[in-house]
Amino acid sequence: MEIFPVEIRPVEVEADVLAFGIADPPELPPAAQELDRRLSGRLARLLEDGEIKGSLGSVAVLHTRGEVTARRIAAVGLGKVTALDADALRTAVARAAERTGAVGGRTLAWILGGDELPLTAADQARAAVEGAVLAAYDPGRWKTGADDERPQLAESLVLCGTGAAAVRDEAVRAAVVARWTNRCRDLVNTPANELTPTKLAELAEEAAAKLEHVRVETLGPEEIRAAGMGAFAAVARGSREPARLISLSYEPPAPARPDVVLGLVGKAITFDSGGLSLKPAQRMDEMKYDMAGGGAALTGFCAVAELGLPVRARAVVGSCENMPGGHAYRPGDIVTAANGMTIEVTNTDAEGRLVLADALWYARESGATHVVDFATLTGGIVVAIGDFYAGLFGNDASWIEEVRAAAEESGDHAWPMPIHDTYKRYYQSTFADATNSSDLRQAQPVYAARFLQEFAGEGPWAHLDIAGTAFLERGRGDVFADRGATGYGVRLIAELASRLAGAGP
Ligand code: BES
Ligand code: MN
Ligand code: ZN
Repeated sequence: MEIFPVEIRPVEVEADVLAFGIADPPELPPAAQELDRRLSGRLARLLEDGEIKGSLGSVAVLHTRGEVTARRIAAVGLGKVTALDADALRTAVARAAERTGAVGGRTLAWILGGDELPLTAADQARAAVEGAVLAAYDPGRWKTGADDERPQLAESLVLCGTGAAAVRDEAVRAAVVARWTNRCRDLVNTPANELTPTKLAELAEEAAAKLEHVRVETLGPEEIRAAGMGAFAAVARGSREPARLISLSYEPPAPARPDVVLGLVGKAITFDSGGLSLKPAQRMDEMKYDMAGGGAALTGFCAVAELGLPVRARAVVGSCENMPGGHAYRPGDIVTAANGMTIEVTNTDAEGRLVLADALWYARESGATHVVDFATLTGGIVVAIGDFYAGLFGNDASWIEEVRAAAEESGDHAWPMPIHDTYKRYYQSTFADATNSSDLRQAQPVYAARFLQEFAGEGPWAHLDIAGTAFLERGRGDVFADRGATGYGVRLIAELASRLAGAGP
């Protein structure tokens, strides 16, 4: 999707669909009034007849007859003005982009609102770009039908209206981030027979080669073992696919805060069968998305580097498959993590925390001062808070708050969850320093987070359990209309890095 912010009067825009937002109760916004005059009052009549609605996401389309340059005009409901936020605007623009594709159009023009809306022009531009780019993602890449049977997608977005040219930078930045978000969605939707740990590492290397000030290093099974990462190595041993520890570093020439190194750590289990503690068959197919945390760390890192944000960063992604087999790790095995802790494996399906234990340690080794990890860690977080908020945990109140604020601003929502030393009881072992799971069906996301804290080292650390937000079992009715991957974390990472870079939102 190409983005064109232009200072041009809406009546002169060339587009297949020229769209404006309309709040509830519906009233033509100032920008639509000039259009309505050209159209001899047809917009006002559609409004009177109740065909143009203000309810969020409703779209009314009418053809023009050369009265304006655009072929069609769309009035898109924004919902109540008091409830209008970036989420609502993204949803509205996503619906407009979908409709543009559905009528066979390629170009959507969106008219930025003025003072009648509670969002600044910059915030509107950002939300509009995200809505259009995210809506133009097609999860059906593996379908073989003829092109005309595939969903039609809009290809470009023209931002017009007062102040559109002034928000060009925000629009361009939002497009970079939204494209990396779609890249992440594609990685997450890719099945495990295609996206192996080796393939993920190759893709990381290809991406890194195109970015300035970025270096990449990949460790294989031997190196992972030799570095003492016994927890990660144990998870990987059941699969014929070799493990990869993917490590990226971004060193911009003039960092805003030279003492800060953002560490992005991700769980990338390309398939989680559960291992010998095998999962039930139902919905096991979805476990291809167990690499979503690693996908987000990787693509979010690339977005930061492509934007050239002046913040030093590392990404550390632990990638392997969790499979049963003759060489698989077993319940009862005791493994030693890189920080020296011994862990009794009581359930091979609690593999993510073992991989992250070593990846977190490695991120600290590589100089990360402010760490965030992303992981589809527990089914419990889905049961607890569903598909909108990720669970946010951490060891440092101000870092948690910084991550929370960036999450909210970015549209990748996160809500703080408790963490406390008393949860250490859940993973006490008779034989070793810790177990990796508890058979009590209690507080699974919480004690899993407390387990990770053992390996998070010194300094601020936050953990996002994204099992509910990374992959939707069904569309959410917002910008994510389909089942499948959301790219959760990419926009959050870009926002967090912008804040650390002092570049503002
Ligand atoms: N990848 C899963 C968590 C998961 C479950 C993500 C469902 C998305 C949807 C993780 O590795 C896992 O299996 N966790 C177990 C831990 C348990 C064995 C202590 C869980 O949450 O059930
Ligand atoms: Mn598992
Ligand atoms: Zn898992």
